[in-house]
Amino acid sequence: MLKKLISGIKPTGHLHLGNYLGAVKNWVELQNQYSCSFFIADLHSLTVKISKEDLQKQTLDLAVDLLALGINPKKSILFKQSEVIGHAELAWIFNCLVPVSELERMTQFKDKSLHHPDNINAGLLTYPSLQAADILLYLAEYVPVGEDQVQHLELTRIIARKFNNRYGDFFPEIKPVLSPARRLMSLNNSTKKMSKSLGEASYIAIDDDPDTISKKIKKAVTDEQGIKNLLELYSYFGSPEKTKSLNTAFQKGKLMNVELKEELTKVVLDFLKPIQAKRNYFQDHPKEVEKILAEGAKKAQSEADKNLEKIKGLIGLK
Ligand code: TRP
Repeated sequence: MLKKLISGIKPTGHLHLGNYLGAVKNWVELQNQYSCSFFIADLHSLTVKISKEDLQKQTLDLAVDLLALGINPKKSILFKQSEVIGHAELAWIFNCLVPVSELERMTQFKDKSLHHPDNINAGLLTYPSLQAADILLYLAEYVPVGEDQVQHLELTRIIARKFNNRYGDFFPEIKPVLSPARRLMSLNNSTKKMSKSLGEASYIAIDDDPDTISKKIKKAVTDEQGIKNLLELYSYFGSPEKTKSLNTAFQKGKLMNVELKEELTKVVLDFLKPIQAKRNYFQDHPKEVEKILAEGAKKAQSEADKNLEKIKGLIGLK
């Protein structure tokens, strides 16, 4: 039997190349080695203020992007977290096991509290309990995440151990599956990670049109680190030979920024062309996307029901 793997992503709008190379590319490849579930973490996105319209739109956009990038509903279960009953319920059970002190020392909680001092809600604090529930509800063992989530996974292991000690061995030891692709840097700031929070000029979105992409790359910073970042970006999409010759030119001080940017634009556009065609298809057929998510939720729900019954039995809720 294939090993079980799960991961989630918050609906924050269109994915960018940083999301793709840092996470989704890895997911697409993992589909062939594991029994995979991927979900849109819409409950987690409620920890920051988001309007009804944005939540709905961003959820659909994310599903469309994931399908276009190669998450295959024939191989994997793709669903919306809030559509499966059980995540929030198991999170409550975990909330009653996890010490507040463990939650308070999470880097993400500290960062978010610092940046949103006017909205330090309880969900922000208990975010990791819900994340632990997302994983353990399915008894998944493998969790592909970026480095920034490793701390949450460690807390998931602590929660699982606490549960097992108190109620009997039930949850497996989970293992992070780190993405081999390194983090992609921002186009407008060579030392910061590519991120929505740095503005549109920072990233190339999966749905950016060719003109926008060309302009963003033209404007990319070209300090020494900036050029290295562009070369790295090139290496993910260009041929190994051309990558090598650009790198050699750079080392010899003979690389023209204009040439590098033109070559990079070309390979990024080539890469995105078929993906955008798929995106457009799904964008034009939202009912099909909703059907995929509903079928995914149905499969996830039957697994969740089975496990939640056992969990409730162990605790004495049954
Ligand atoms: N917290 C993760 C992030 O911000 C998203 C997430 C929610 C997740 N639940 C998860 C990732 C469960 C892996 C497993 O990226």
